[in-house]
Amino acid sequence: MTAAGTFGYGTEYSHLFDIQKLGAIVCKGTTLEPRDGNPQPRLVETTSGLLNSIGLQNIGVKALIKEKAPIWANWRVPVMVNIAGETVDDYAQLAKELDGVAGISGIEVNISCPNVKAGGAEFGVNPESAARVTAAVKSATSLPILVKLTPNTGDIVGVAATVAEAGADAISLINTVKGMAIDIATRRPLLGNRTGGLSGPAIKPIALSMVYEVASAVELPVIGCGGITTGNDAIEFIMAGASAIQVGTASFVNPRAPFDVLEGIERFMQKEGIKDIAELIGAARR
Ligand code: SIN
Repeated sequence: MTAAGTFGYGTEYSHLFDIQKLGAIVCKGTTLEPRDGNPQPRLVETTSGLLNSIGLQNIGVKALIKEKAPIWANWRVPVMVNIAGETVDDYAQLAKELDGVAGISGIEVNISCPNVKAGGAEFGVNPESAARVTAAVKSATSLPILVKLTPNTGDIVGVAATVAEAGADAISLINTVKGMAIDIATRRPLLGNRTGGLSGPAIKPIALSMVYEVASAVELPVIGCGGITTGNDAIEFIMAGASAIQVGTASFVNPRAPFDVLEGIERFMQKEGIKDIAELIGAARR
């Protein structure tokens, strides 16, 4: 899968690659109303990583349903909509609006964005609020729901367990790790929003250990995300217990990254004589 916010609406890439080969596309975090996002600068490159403080800039759910879903309805690749709200009711309303819309195959519930004043990761840091959002979305839609977790909590397993109980169909993790960078010439934070979320290879070991812990603790499928750049990275996540993976920041360096990862997985399987990827899921936990 492509990770939310790193592959646009898929339409930006459909003339460049055979996007229908992908397992799924997860589109940019979508809110009830359109958002302009946070003040610039909103991106800073770091050692082996990328800090972003986009602030959920997006076109809003109504434009998404009107302009993007009809295009997706003609695709073979499923498209999931990542949703974000400021209140539990916002999430429920978003889920209701997306329910039954042709072209939308699922919802990724974003309780993990570190760049907004209200909502986002605020809901994902503790098990009770994460469960409240999940239950509200579940009762508002018949679509499959993934819940995307934040690493910025002391209790990722507790959050995953209550989200599972509240009705999630799968769990994706991790979103970005809160971080910052300072310009020593101006003595000011480099990001307009001061802090942001770190992604890319720098966070891969964190993501991997969290996937390992969560997959050991819950029965639900786990989708691994965080710094995956090569097929071998993806195989590590699968061996940690992920049933699927998302490629995110790597696409900014190499727009072909999701396809390179897919081909890398296939090469590894051929080399090792693996017929079914399921043979590898959780291999490192056995
Ligand atoms: C952003 O738009 O600020 C990033 C989205 C996210 O972290 O979920």
